[in-house]
Amino acid sequence: MKYRNLGTTGMKISEVSFGAWAIGSSWGAVDDKESLAALHKAVDLGVNFIDTADVYGMGRSEKLIARLRKERSEPIFVATKAGRKLDPHVAQKYTPQNIRGFVRQSLRNLQVEALDLLQLHCPPTEVYYTPELFEALDGMVREGLIRNYGVSVEKVEEALKAIEYPGVKTIQIIFNMFRQRPAELFFREARARRIGVIVRVPLASGLLTGKMSRTTKFDKEDHRNFNRKGQAFDRGETFAGVDYERGLQAVEELKGLLPQGWSMAQLALRWILMHDAVSCTIPGAKRPDQVEDNCRASDLPKIPGKSMKRIEEIYDEYIRGDVHQRW
Ligand SMILES: NC(=O)c1ccc[n+]([C@@H]2O[C@H](COP(=O)([O-])OP(=O)(O)OC[C@H]3O[C@@H](n4cnc5c(N)ncnc54)[C@H](OP(=O)(O)O)[C@@H]3O)[C@@H](O)[C@H]2O)c1
Repeated sequence: MKYRNLGTTGMKISEVSFGAWAIGSSWGAVDDKESLAALHKAVDLGVNFIDTADVYGMGRSEKLIARLRKERSEPIFVATKAGRKLDPHVAQKYTPQNIRGFVRQSLRNLQVEALDLLQLHCPPTEVYYTPELFEALDGMVREGLIRNYGVSVEKVEEALKAIEYPGVKTIQIIFNMFRQRPAELFFREARARRIGVIVRVPLASGLLTGKMSRTTKFDKEDHRNFNRKGQAFDRGETFAGVDYERGLQAVEELKGLLPQGWSMAQLALRWILMHDAVSCTIPGAKRPDQVEDNCRASDLPKIPGKSMKRIEEIYDEYIRGDVHQRW
């Protein structure tokens, strides 16, 4: 496992880290024993950074991570998120008082005195224009409730706005072979300001692993069933916003580029790591074998230039028109 700086937070983190949404909720049935085994496997393989949120199973994901931290002696950094418990989820409810309440609950769930990293959880766009909230976050850092804060964003434009606040140390954004626009202006700006970049949905919700087909069935409780058109939350969070059938066609083309011995998941993750503005990627995993497959991406050689070019062409042909200017 290789490590990269998470911007100026002082945290040096595994370039393949762990996304802990699926072990909390919204991805069909999960078994805590298996989830813990997946977390342990990640730490065995050098993962030292986990991304979670207060709403993932309403504390279930955070509490599993607290258990993991008790059972391991290695340092493990945890990033959590706040804001999505607001109901209705509107900008006016992003008050310092509400966010502080969520922070206190996460501190209890994670059983720590300070959060390593608090991220606003895809707030409505107006929130980016409320400097008073960002000042309140600076206050929480001074008080010692949080060590760093950042924003998990939906759109490139939101990322560009967020990094204007000097206290924002990290941006979490969707970036993968099906979502290439962040590599343009945003990565340049992030590098210039030494912002930590956390890449989520790296496998396009599993679509980029090449294991799905027209007949794949998803559980009733799985967002890949109930959020395909954005019925429950932003459409871009499910299959990275790509039309499922079209995505399958593009994946067939990508399969032709696989170096011998690589899995499709590894190609997807290695492609992300080719971009040096990226601090880490956080593939979600529910089982130890998935963690093993994903972590190996860090040890693989660079993707040859010819294949990088072909990946761009496949994106242009199948994906760009539907996705590029939406997020
Ligand atoms: N708004 C936000 O801030 C936000 C939104 C989304 C995600 N996130 C964060 O980003 C993380 C990653 O995104 P994501 O979980 O949505 O999507 P993802 O990482 O693109 O896909 C994860 C899913 O792919 C499947 N998978 C993982 N590794 C695999 C492998 N090696 N082979 C085959 N299948 C594999 C698993 O599902 P199955 O086994 O069920 O197929 C897994 O749950 C989340 O866990 C969360 O921490 C944050």
